[in-house]
Order: sequence, then C-alpha cells, then structure tokens
Amino acid sequence: MRTQYAVSPDFVNLENGFFGVQPIPVHEAFKRYETEVNRENSYFLRVRYSKYLTAVLDALALFTGAEVGELLITRNLTESMNILIQGYPFSAGDGVLLAEHDYDSVIETLEMVAARKALALTRLCLPLDPHSDEQIVGLYEQAITPQTRVLLVTHVVHRSGQIMPVAKIVAMARRHGIDVMVDAAHSFAQLDYKIANLGADFVGVNLHKWLGAPLGVGLLYIRKGRVADIAPLFGDAQRNANDINKLGHFGSIPPAPILAIRDALDFHHSIGSSNKEARLRYLSQYWLAQVRTTPRVQILTPRSPERSCAIAAFSIMGIAAQQVAERLMTEHHIFTVVRDIAGRKGVRVTPHLFTTTAQLDLLVSAIRYMAAVGG
Ligand SMILES: Cc1ncc(COP(=O)(O)O)c(C=O)c1O
Repeated sequence: MRTQYAVSPDFVNLENGFFGVQPIPVHEAFKRYETEVNRENSYFLRVRYSKYLTAVLDALALFTGAEVGELLITRNLTESMNILIQGYPFSAGDGVLLAEHDYDSVIETLEMVAARKALALTRLCLPLDPHSDEQIVGLYEQAITPQTRVLLVTHVVHRSGQIMPVAKIVAMARRHGIDVMVDAAHSFAQLDYKIANLGADFVGVNLHKWLGAPLGVGLLYIRKGRVADIAPLFGDAQRNANDINKLGHFGSIPPAPILAIRDALDFHHSIGSSNKEARLRYLSQYWLAQVRTTPRVQILTPRSPERSCAIAAFSIMGIAAQQVAERLMTEHHIFTVVRDIAGRKGVRVTPHLFTTTAQLDLLVSAIRYMAAVGG
C-alpha cells in the first residue's frame, strides 16, 4: 500500500487531516484528465464531459447508498454547508443547536445567517471522553427547545478525532421533528458507513480528505423530497424545485478533479472501507497506547478506541502546544498541527495509510523526551 503513495521523504507527515495525498494511480489519472481537457478544450466539456460525469455520480451513489438525484458535487465541504445553511427555510426566531467543537467556518456561516435572519444559536460543550453514546444524545436532547429547528453535528471532530454517534442523534432529533445537518468532512472514506444509513436529510462531505480525490471536490447529500426546501445560493431560475442541480449553478469549474473522483473510489474499493478504518485506528492507537501513561502527557481524544479513528491529539503540561509542534518539526522532522480542543490548545496527530509504525515510534520518543525534559 505504501508504494501507492509518493510522499516527501524530507519529513514525517503526521498532518494528513487537512487534505489527503492522492494515491499514485489517482494522481496519474488526474493528470491525464487535465491534459485531455486542455487538448480538447470546449469539445471536451460540451460533448464528452456529461458521460464521464454520469459515471462519477453513479459510482458515488453506489458508495454512499444514495440516489444520484440526492447528490451534488461541490468544491468542498464549506461550499456544501453554505448551500445548506444559507438555503434552509429558516424563519426569524428559529433555533439552531451546535457544538463548540464544530468546524469554525461552518459555525461562522451559521453566525452570519443567524444575524441576517434573527436565529438563536445554542452552543453545546460536549465531553471529550463520554461514557456512552446516550450521554451525548442526551446532552443534545436536553438543549432542544420548542424553537429548535436544526441541529448541526460534526461526525468526526477535526480537533480531537472524536466520533459522534450521528445515527442515534438523528433518530432522537427526528422524534422531535428537528432537521440534522451533518458535517461528514472527516468521516467520509475514513469510517466504514454509508451516508444514506445515517438517517439525516442533509449531509456535507469533502472528497479531498480521506477519499484522496484531488483538492477541490466536495459532495452534498440531500434526502429525496427535501431538495425543494433548499433555496439556491447560486442564482438559478430554470431548474425544477426538486432538482438538486438547481443548487450547483457554479459556472465554469475545473473538470479534472471531478473526473478523478471515480479513480479515487476505485482505489478506495481496492482497500475496502473496513480495512482502511481498521488500519487507521490501529496506527493512532499504536502511538496513543505508548504515551498514555507518560507523566505530563495529556491525551485529548476519547479513551475508548471505537470513539476515534485516524485523528488524535495530545498536549504536554508546561509546554505550549505551538512550541511542541514546532519542536517536533525542527528537532524531529515530524509535521503536526495545533488545534483548539476543549478550551485549550493541543497537537493534532493524523497518520495515513502510508505511515509506518517506525515513524510513530519516532513520535513517541519525541513526546517522551519533551515531557521528561520540559520546555
Ligand atoms: C470538520 C470539518 N468540517 C469542515 C471542513 C472544511 O472542509 P473544506 O476545506 O473541504 O471546505 C473541515 C476541514 O478541515 C473539517 O475538518
């Protein structure tokens, strides 16, 4: 598997949470598409593209368990969530329930729309190490008021790696007649599940993280029958209210990343979703287990292995997280990133399929060394 990725030998990349390295076969296909598009120019887009696009959408429908008419290819998750949040039929006074740990740009979109439409936002502070799914579901449920209209749930929290029990939250919200918008940025193609089985009517995804498609492709899922409820963000006056493509009037966009989605799906299938999830969890548990009891090291990820997968985070008491991340890079050539986690800063560590346990051993020694020596 490792030979399928061409990664820089200059440092150990443990920051694979921003976007995914394209596997070599996907990157090769992407370059071929780019050449073809450039050579054929408008002929490609006007004559040949729609056949390719249909094949991409069919493959996405198969993978997600959704129907083609429930899927829209976007440029990233931020765009998917903007289409949903800005197009949702909110009325003044409606309430939206979200969590402090949700993604900043999604929160900002809600804040902007809340200011424009006089919505009330309620932010939950959820436990980093819950004892059960029911505890999380209960906290969302207790915060519901008669005004609550929408609940935002981040499936895999990008800060701590925590996995939220989305299907159970959606089932609870449905009993209250509340819509759920799921931010599935990190869960898609990291965890083994089908979007359609989450039960939510609205799900935003990016395809350039764990699926490994080129940068600049995302997905929006809207359950059949709910498309008509979302007003277009990008001007569209021609399409039917039930046609999801009414939400995708983006103008001219680069087709090569979209075409390579199919190659990324093929590559993903060659591994298998459950194998991928198991390997990523193995890698994170591998380093976590070795530093969990190290004095002054705090793990900022749930203890139970099934509550996280590839992403995990830590801090070292007495050393600022930024300093830890900088020293990891300058002294040990290990690249990580700092994130706000539960009111403090932590170093986020995200291995990928090409990460070796020897590389994680380097991380473990570096953490133990810094924890022992101090700042
Ligand atoms: C939880 C979460 N939501 C949304 C996003 C934004 O994704 P994109 O950059 O594809 O818009 C990210 C990106 O890191 C994320 O981690």
